[in-house]
Amino acid sequence: MTKTTTMTTTAGAPIADNQNSLSAGSRGPLLLQDYQLIEKLAHQNRERIPERVVHAKGSAAYGTLTITNDITPYSKAKVFSEIGKKTEVFLRFSTVAGERGAADAERDVRGFALKVYTEEGNWDIVGNNTPVFFVRDPVKFPDFIRTQKRHPATNLRSTTAMWDFWSLSPESLHQVTILFSDRGLPQGYRFMHGFGSHTYSFINEAGERFWVKFHFKSMQGIKTWTNREAEAVVAKDRESAQRDLYEAIEGGEFPRWKFCVQIMPETDAEKTSYNPFDVTKVWPHAEYPLIEVGILELNRNAQHYFAEVEQSSFSPSNIVPGIGFSPDKMLQGRIFAYADAHRYRVGTHYEALPVNRPRSAVNHYHADGPMLFDIPNRGDAYYEPNSFNGPVQTQRAAEPPLKISGDADRYDHRAGNDDYKQPGDLFRLMTPDEQDRLMDNIAEAMQGVPEAIVKRQIVHFYLADKAYGLGVADRMGLKGAVMIQAAE
Ligand code: HEM
Repeated sequence: MTKTTTMTTTAGAPIADNQNSLSAGSRGPLLLQDYQLIEKLAHQNRERIPERVVHAKGSAAYGTLTITNDITPYSKAKVFSEIGKKTEVFLRFSTVAGERGAADAERDVRGFALKVYTEEGNWDIVGNNTPVFFVRDPVKFPDFIRTQKRHPATNLRSTTAMWDFWSLSPESLHQVTILFSDRGLPQGYRFMHGFGSHTYSFINEAGERFWVKFHFKSMQGIKTWTNREAEAVVAKDRESAQRDLYEAIEGGEFPRWKFCVQIMPETDAEKTSYNPFDVTKVWPHAEYPLIEVGILELNRNAQHYFAEVEQSSFSPSNIVPGIGFSPDKMLQGRIFAYADAHRYRVGTHYEALPVNRPRSAVNHYHADGPMLFDIPNRGDAYYEPNSFNGPVQTQRAAEPPLKISGDADRYDHRAGNDDYKQPGDLFRLMTPDEQDRLMDNIAEAMQGVPEAIVKRQIVHFYLADKAYGLGVADRMGLKGAVMIQAAE
């Protein structure tokens, strides 16, 4: 027979009765001294933390990153040091716009947030299942998100707000084209690629910098749903992606992604016809081919959804020696935003929680704050510099100087920036069937949107590719009007 354990209060004292409150007589009222009842109700009141302001609905699992190819000429990061090296990871997938209880099978971008517990600290790639993004300046991010969330008065999501913003922000066209293509509705998290999206940098042992983009290619293949198929799924199962991922891992069917990089020599950034630090653009694979780095595998489910998945905290600011940032303005904005969100959403010492805790030594001089779990053991070395053998800085983490030029100003990020070529190329790459589904999905999503907004957006499609613009216009019954507007 298994030995039973005694139930206790949070202070560890045994509990005599967890079935009946302490009452004055069998019909009550209750006594204030029933501390167990009070503790139970008070704890329940504190069971929620704020949901993520975006990417609230998600699923995650642990796994490994195994290095299969030598990229040490580009990066000195210890995670890449040897072929065959395995490092523990935690990967959280998500939808962007929906709240914590939203259905999984909705047309939306999917988050792909990876934490690699390297021997020199946590390295996070907080990317999406798309290589580009809707905006290129972080000052536009809160406005964009506003259009994806609920209208302040109706509390309904507003397609008018979405298309109004997109039509006034042509830099969104590339991501909008991906969102309404087949890729915008993956059958589950196992069946989509992941991208770091931004340009980051690699630094090698010689102190040379390279620009780098991260790619994760699904080894399960891409599988997507049409709008009608997804509606049928949601009607029966709002947790289809969570279920698929969890059950696959429980059943020993471990999902894998091939991890690849695109590398750009540092000085090429001055030569490309496009800005390589613009997150609305991809780097052509013909110029910067994919180089395989390793295999990412998920093989262990979390034991406790709240403790591990909900409290997991990913930040693009988490880099390690050998991996650095880039001038990408969006990335620069994100370097601030995430840790700030974690301090608010989870708490000051969020990085000490088991899921976030680095697997390497953590030696900082930050002091105190609510919920300090670990007892700092520095003796007299509680400030820096000190004469008491406290932790010191290391040149290993230093980066080579980055040449910057230009006057401080607010530069118009739309001026002289071609927002149409890459979305047009993507449209032309699709089969006629894929193009049809893209344009059908767009027309469906534009129903009820004021005509002036629809026309303004169709002009963008037209400038990317005439067939794209005319195809959507046709489906909206607007062909002639758009031809005139586009010609003006
Ligand atoms: C989550 C801000 C752009 C991918 C979040 C969160 C914030 C945020 C505050 C919630 C963090 C938390 O509570 O833990 C921003 C800002 C952006 C931006 C200010 C632009 C300036 C992007 C871009 C991508 C992205 C470009 C992808 C390339 C994600 C993902 C999550 C997330 C995947 C969920 C992370 C998780 O699973 O916990 N973002 N974001 N975001 N963001 Fe962004």
